[in-house]
Amino acid sequence: MPSRRILGIGELGMRLAATFVGVALAAVLAMVIAANTIITTDVGDLVKDQQGDLTTAAAIAAGAAYEHVGWQRADLSPVSDFISGEGAATRVCGASGRVIFTSPAFGAYRGQPQFTSPISVHGRPVGRITVRFSSGSFGNSINLFEMQRVRAILIALVIAAAIALGASIVMARVITGPLDATLAVIRARASGYRRARIRPVRGVGVLRELQEGLNAAADRLDRLERLRSDLVADVAHELRTPIAIVQAGHEAMLDGLTEPTAENLSSLRDEVLRLSRMVEDLQRLSAAESAVLQLKLVPEDLAVIADDAASRMADRFDVAGLRLERRLTQAHVMCDRDRMREVITNLLTNALKFTPAEGSVLLEVGPCGQHEVRLRVTDTGVGIPPEELPRVAERFFRGEGSAAMATGSGIGLTIVTELVQAHGGELTITSEQHKGTKVTITLPLTHPGHPDDRRPHSRTVIMHA
Ligand SMILES: Nc1ncnc2c1ncn2[C@@H]1O[C@H](COP(=O)(O)OP(=O)(O)OP(=O)(O)O)[C@@H](O)[C@H]1O
Ligand SMILES: [Mg+2]
Repeated sequence: MPSRRILGIGELGMRLAATFVGVALAAVLAMVIAANTIITTDVGDLVKDQQGDLTTAAAIAAGAAYEHVGWQRADLSPVSDFISGEGAATRVCGASGRVIFTSPAFGAYRGQPQFTSPISVHGRPVGRITVRFSSGSFGNSINLFEMQRVRAILIALVIAAAIALGASIVMARVITGPLDATLAVIRARASGYRRARIRPVRGVGVLRELQEGLNAAADRLDRLERLRSDLVADVAHELRTPIAIVQAGHEAMLDGLTEPTAENLSSLRDEVLRLSRMVEDLQRLSAAESAVLQLKLVPEDLAVIADDAASRMADRFDVAGLRLERRLTQAHVMCDRDRMREVITNLLTNALKFTPAEGSVLLEVGPCGQHEVRLRVTDTGVGIPPEELPRVAERFFRGEGSAAMATGSGIGLTIVTELVQAHGGELTITSEQHKGTKVTITLPLTHPGHPDDRRPHSRTVIMHA
């Protein structure tokens, strides 16, 4: 089921965004906790220092009040005023511990921070002063500081969350957009819509590769599926005629309409032979098609493979009275040796079949430009009529005059085309009736040991009249 989308991002994107925001908030909080620990300790120390200094100052003032007049007549009200002006209260005791003076609020500030300092006059201790600080004294500025700090933290959190959210939306679109598109195509294909493709391919790096890979796999699957269904249809069509002939021939004999003469029986046997040849060819075709799926591509010298294929057929050319000439130059390609030999054998077989005695066939291999290798089979045979040329690679297609010249099922060039395409090559056929045919294959050149160009790029087959 397709997921909900918010701000153009799907479920995965939302999760990513939530993770981004979570990570940003956690980072800010961690920073705040670290800063808090340091600042709180520093501010606490600062306040204690100031309270201690204030107490010392009050002790000096009390000492000044004591000087010359003693505690009985000392006027401690300026000290009390000064202390209460700072939001604190004081108590002054004489040297014997007797309480001389107590601020009215002193008792009320019990439990609050309190500092005591000795009172001395000319180095002689005359008493001590205790100052208690209310929470409203220095605490007030601390409270203010605390409030501002909390506000700063909240602002930092909001800014971090906003930046993380913005960044995550952008990132989520970049990452999840292509993934969502990929998923949509997979779902569409799963529900039977075979033409679904990712268009346009977006995203970077591995995401792009994923999309291109999926499109390529879809193309490949569709091609195979088409081949399979075409094959079934073609096979049914091809088998129908010989089966009908054999059936009708037998029925005619059973009904007494024809005699089971040697001639009649042999014509029926020819049809059966044709059927069995067709089944063999179908096996060849199916083997070639499955070979396309499992090619063993290794660097090979195409000239060596071509030479091998030609040598194996040399006798047949001799028997047919044909000259087979080879012009082979070293040319390295990535290919499956057995399959490439099959391609060359098919082309040489066609040249052999469709070239009358006394004719000649030329097999050429060599580099062509800087990036390609060319293999060409040229014959001086009957040629292909222009109207047949575009169809020669179709499965089971045989030219009008072909049956008269040689046996065959019309699958040789189908196999050749499949294999050449699977090697990333291109096939071109040119032909002139009564003069001859030229079949050219070009394959990407490779340098042995070079890791580049190992993946063949499939290209379409082009036919020229
Ligand atoms: N060198 C050629 N000269 C003339 N015609 C050709 C040549 N090669 C192919 N053709 C034509 O193309 C048709 C298809 O060729 P293809 O190789 O697919 O089938 P085939 O040779 O008839 O049978 P098969 O290869 O299955 O034994 C041939 O029947 C023939 O009409
Ligand atoms: Mg053939």
